[in-house]
Amino acid sequence: MVVKITIVGSGNVGATCANVLATREVASEIVLLDIKEGISEGKAMDILQTAALAEFGGCVKGVTNDYAATANSNVVVITSGIPRKPGMTREELIGVNAGIVKNVVENILKHSPNAILIIVSNPMDAMCHLAAKISGLPRNRVLGLGGALDSSRFKYYLSQALGANSKDIEATVIGGHGDTTMVPLASLATCRGVPVTKFLSKEKLDEVIEATKVGGATLTKLLGTSAWYAPGAAVASMVESIVRNQKRIIPCAVKLEGEYGETDLTIGVPVVLGENGWEKIIDFPVSEEEKAAFKASADATRKVNQIMVENKMI
Ligand code: 2OP
Repeated sequence: MVVKITIVGSGNVGATCANVLATREVASEIVLLDIKEGISEGKAMDILQTAALAEFGGCVKGVTNDYAATANSNVVVITSGIPRKPGMTREELIGVNAGIVKNVVENILKHSPNAILIIVSNPMDAMCHLAAKISGLPRNRVLGLGGALDSSRFKYYLSQALGANSKDIEATVIGGHGDTTMVPLASLATCRGVPVTKFLSKEKLDEVIEATKVGGATLTKLLGTSAWYAPGAAVASMVESIVRNQKRIIPCAVKLEGEYGETDLTIGVPVVLGENGWEKIIDFPVSEEEKAAFKASADATRKVNQIMVENKMI
């Protein structure tokens, strides 16, 4: 079966995602597209020059603004837009990035009307809501990167606190992909099936939760721009579960229509990812405190969407 994946935006996140997908041989063809002349072509060539070393079949093509080259993509990852600078919130990017994301979605759908869209551009939940609204696609074909990344960061901080291997940790973050709004589900986090609450004090666990929430901001401060290795790998894991029909449960931003008590809102919840996009929303048995935090996160996310409503973007 031919699997074609397009990544729009060949910056750090887009190129890292392409690199992970290429080395794992997830697709028959990966197209990297950017508006900046030469950047996609250069990054595709650089990735392909690792093929002999990392031993994978070369399938990455770089193009400058040529949407015809993206035709018939099965999955399209949209990373376009400006990243945040130190001290900025993701929400502050809305004015610039909404116009960019709208334009990209329209161009993509002209050539791949049935694609599954994965939105990475920030503020991600709002950008994903915008894409879900303007694309006219069934809601299971539009999803956003948030929980896959934030859960991996949560596992990292838990592994540090526990002195354990990240692979032995199971942990999920739901809610919006915002510094103050995401909801790391401490009550459900385990190390080899044992609740982490058995090993960590309330104070330590609170520290882990806080570090997770500002995980992206911490890196932005250190790097001077937003992170790429974990975001790129996280979105690649979503793409892989879709195209290989792995049915993994990964928290993603999806448009809720009554689930988790919310309607007409795009926000992170655990979903099953398979060949049809997100196929099922899973109702996790969260604590009362986490339920309240999710509600607050939903309210905050709705407020950001309101900016788009007021500016007649959606
Ligand atoms: C992050 O959290 C890029 O929003 C992304 O690093």
